[in-house]
Amino acid sequence: MKITKICCIGAGYVGGPTMAVIAQKCPNIQVTVVDLNEQRIKDWNDPDTNNIPIYEPGLSEIVAEARGRNLFFSTEVEKAIDEAQVIFISVNTPTKTYGKGKGMAADLKYIELCARQIAKVAKENKIVVEKSTLPVRTAEAIKSILDNTGNGVQFQILSNPEFLAEGTAVTDLLNPDRILIGGDSTPEGEEAINALVDVYANWVSRDKILTTNVWSSELSKLTANAFLAQRISSINAMSELCEKTGADVSEVAKAIGMDSRIGSKFLKASVGFGGSCFQKDILNLVYIAKSYGLTEVADYWEQVIIMNDYQKRRFSNKIVQTLYNTVADKKITFLGWAFKKDTNDTRESAAIYVADDLINEQATIAVFDPKVSRDKMLNDLNYLQTRSVEDNNSKVVAFNDAYDACKGAHAVAILTEWDEFTAYDWQEIYDSMHKPAFLFDGRNILNSKEMESIGFIYKGIGS
Ligand code: NAD
Ligand code: UDX
Repeated sequence: MKITKICCIGAGYVGGPTMAVIAQKCPNIQVTVVDLNEQRIKDWNDPDTNNIPIYEPGLSEIVAEARGRNLFFSTEVEKAIDEAQVIFISVNTPTKTYGKGKGMAADLKYIELCARQIAKVAKENKIVVEKSTLPVRTAEAIKSILDNTGNGVQFQILSNPEFLAEGTAVTDLLNPDRILIGGDSTPEGEEAINALVDVYANWVSRDKILTTNVWSSELSKLTANAFLAQRISSINAMSELCEKTGADVSEVAKAIGMDSRIGSKFLKASVGFGGSCFQKDILNLVYIAKSYGLTEVADYWEQVIIMNDYQKRRFSNKIVQTLYNTVADKKITFLGWAFKKDTNDTRESAAIYVADDLINEQATIAVFDPKVSRDKMLNDLNYLQTRSVEDNNSKVVAFNDAYDACKGAHAVAILTEWDEFTAYDWQEIYDSMHKPAFLFDGRNILNSKEMESIGFIYKGIGS
C-alpha cells in the first residue's frame, strides 16, 4: 500500500511541526492538517510564515517551502478525513480536571471525538495513527468506537508516539533518535505498519525505525518521559544537598555524566521542569499503575512530581528569605516566562508557580520574555485561580525590553535559559537596580564569579 494522502487532526505543537516535516520530506504525499480552532488555522495560513502560531527555530522556512504545494491547513475536518488513507490523531490529551481520575488521568474526550468523527466519515478502509501521547491500551478503545460506529469499513490502529522536544522540534523531527511504530501482528496490521514505515523511510534510515506491538509503543512513550523527568528530579534533589554541603551541582553533574552508563544529557539542575508533557504523562502513568493496584510503582513515579513541585517552591522561598523575609511591594523581575528557551509555549512553566508564590507575598512581578505576551502570562496565572483576575492584573507588568524590566528591581530571577540573557550588559542592569541587587539564576546560565564581581548577590541552583 502506497500512501499519497495524509490527514492530521490537531494543528498544535506536535501536529503542525510533524506534518510540516513529513510534507517537506515527502513531496508526493498530500498532507492536510485540520483543527477546530479557526484562529489557529488562520494563523498557520498567514501569508507571512513568521506569523505562524508556533515558534520553533527553522519551522517557518519549512512551512514556506511546503505550504500550498503539498501541505495544507484547514478547518474542513470531515473532508480531510474522507480523502486521506492515513489519519494522524494529534489532539491534546490534558490531565483531567473533573470526575474520576481528576488531576491525574489523561482526558481522552478529544481523542474519542476524533474517533467518532473518523467512524462517521470514513467510507473506505483507513489507517488511524495515534500521534498523541495516550494511556496504554487506548488503541483498544479507539478500535471499539471505530468498529462499532463506523460504516463497516476496516480500520488499522497504529501507535506512533512523538518524541520531539519543543524548541528543537525541527531538528528532532529531521534527525530522530528513533521512530516508534506499534501495530497488530496480523497481515493487515503488518501492511499498515509497513506503509507508515515507508513514509518515514523517505528521510530516516530504516534501522532507526522500530516496530513493536501497540501496547509496548503506547507505554514506551510514557516511560521515556518518566525517565527523562526522573533525571531532572534526581539532579534537582542533589542540588539542595549541594547548597547545604558546599558541593557544586554542575561539577557533580559533569562528574557523573562522564560515566557512559549514566550519560551527560538531562542533568541540568533547574528551578524545575515545565512543559505540557512531563507532569501530565507521569501523572497518567501513576494513575494507570494505581488502577492496576500497583501502589509501590505509582508512589515511585509520583515522587518525581513531588520533587519537582518542591524545587519550584524552594526557589520562590529562597527569593523571599534572601530578600530579608519580605518581598511585599518589592519589584522582582523575571527574565523568561516560557518553560524552556526557543519556544513560546508556557504550559506548566516553573515561572507561573514562582510568580504565584511571590504575588502571594505581595511582590510586583516585572516580566520580560522574548516570545511570550502579557496576555498569555496573565492567562497562566488566572488559570491557577489563586486570586482575582484584577489582582493578577495589578501585580504583573510585562516589558518589551529586558533592561527596562530590570530598572528599579530589588531582584532579578532567571526563569528561562534564553541565550540572549547571557549576552546582556549585566553591569548596566546592576547599576539600574535597587541595592543590594539580587540575582537568582534558576537556570545556572550566568557566571557566578563574574556576577559577584559586578556587585550582585548571586544565587544559582545547587551551589
Ligand atoms: P496542542 O494543544 O498544541 O494541540 C492540539 C490541537 O488539537 C489544538 O489546536 C486543538 O484545537 C486541536 N483539537 C482538539 N480536538 C480536536 C478535534 N476533535 N478536531 C480537531 N482539532 C482538535 O497539543 P500538542 O502540544 O500538540 O500535543 C498533542 C499531543 O501530542 C498530546 O497528546 C501530547 O501529549 C503529545 N505530545 C506533545 C509534545 C509537545 O512537545 N508538545 C511532544 C510529544 C507528544
Ligand atoms: C519533552 C521530551 O523531552 C520529549 O521527548 C517529549 O516528546 C515531550 O516532552 P519538552 O517538554 O518539549 O520535551 O522539552 P524538554 O527539553 O524535555 O524540557 C522539559 C523541561 O525540563 C523544561 O522545562 C526544561 O527546562 C527542563 N529541563 C530539561 C531541566 O530542567 N534540566 C535538564 O537537564 C533538561
